Amino acid sequence: MRLKIGKLTFWLTIVAGAGTSLAGSLVWAQTAPDPVAEYRAMFGDDNPAVLWTLRGQDLWKEVRGSKHVSLAKSCDLGMGTGIIKGAYAHLPRYFADTKKVQDMESRLLTCMVDGQGMDKAAILKNRFGEGDRKSDLEALAAYVVDASNGVAISLPLEHPEEKRAYALGKAIFFYRAGTHDFSCASCHGQVGKRIRLQQLPDLAGPGKDARDTYATWPAYRVSQGEVRTMEWRIGDCFRQQRLPQLKYGSEAAIDLTMFLAKNAEGGKMAAPGLKR
Ligand code: HEC
Repeated sequence: MRLKIGKLTFWLTIVAGAGTSLAGSLVWAQTAPDPVAEYRAMFGDDNPAVLWTLRGQDLWKEVRGSKHVSLAKSCDLGMGTGIIKGAYAHLPRYFADTKKVQDMESRLLTCMVDGQGMDKAAILKNRFGEGDRKSDLEALAAYVVDASNGVAISLPLEHPEEKRAYALGKAIFFYRAGTHDFSCASCHGQVGKRIRLQQLPDLAGPGKDARDTYATWPAYRVSQGEVRTMEWRIGDCFRQQRLPQLKYGSEAAIDLTMFLAKNAEGGKMAAPGLKR
């Protein structure tokens, strides 16, 4: 069914079948045009994320912190010190120095705090930029991910801790909780679903949706005028799921990212992307 109210067009589909969950009834399956396609047309081949990438490049090379060292000379994202090419496509991964599985954001934080001697609380306070207050983490993320463009996502999960992270991430993805008893799968468990006018990719297992989604984060969010990372994206979905605020760099955030990344295996990185 198609409703026209003023300039807005709504597509509604009656969700059939008994036992439809609350999430199911909120989700409108239909064939509305891709709203982000309009933004893409507006920007042409340009993505404002390039401004973040350039600032990230400067930050990567700048000597900073109490240890007076650049990330380029001290930070190992898994490919060797200073190497960013392809790094994002193989994260999260286990790091022997921290004895932890880390995603890009938590690894950058380790490099800035332990490697450069910068103030963790100050970096975390400014983890999400807004307007003139730009986030170093978001700029660095844009720079690092840009260097994986075209690289195939590959996570062999060789280390037991990596296997464990994946298993936990999967468990969290399907775990129903909160006032609405939602899991990630309530909204991201089927192909071709929408909520409001937003597409809901199927992220519950390997497939095209999983690859296309993961490959395009971090991304420039048109609605916010900022580059956001996967930690931000998952944190915002925790909010939509009515869960407590997701702690930045927490095991839950990293494990969920591991699950999403593994499901996206084989996809070619194409980030920073452009999102609603
Ligand atoms: C109540 C529904 C809902 C739940 C539950 C939910 N999400 Fe989302 N998610 C959305 C919506 C809506 C969007 C698209 C937002 C937009 O376009 O701004 C989205 C977007 C995403 C994206 C980016 C998709 C893209 O196309 O780039 C990822 C990744 C994601 N969610 C992961 C998760 C994870 C992981 C969980 C569980 C912790 C979760 N979501 C739970 C509604 C939900």
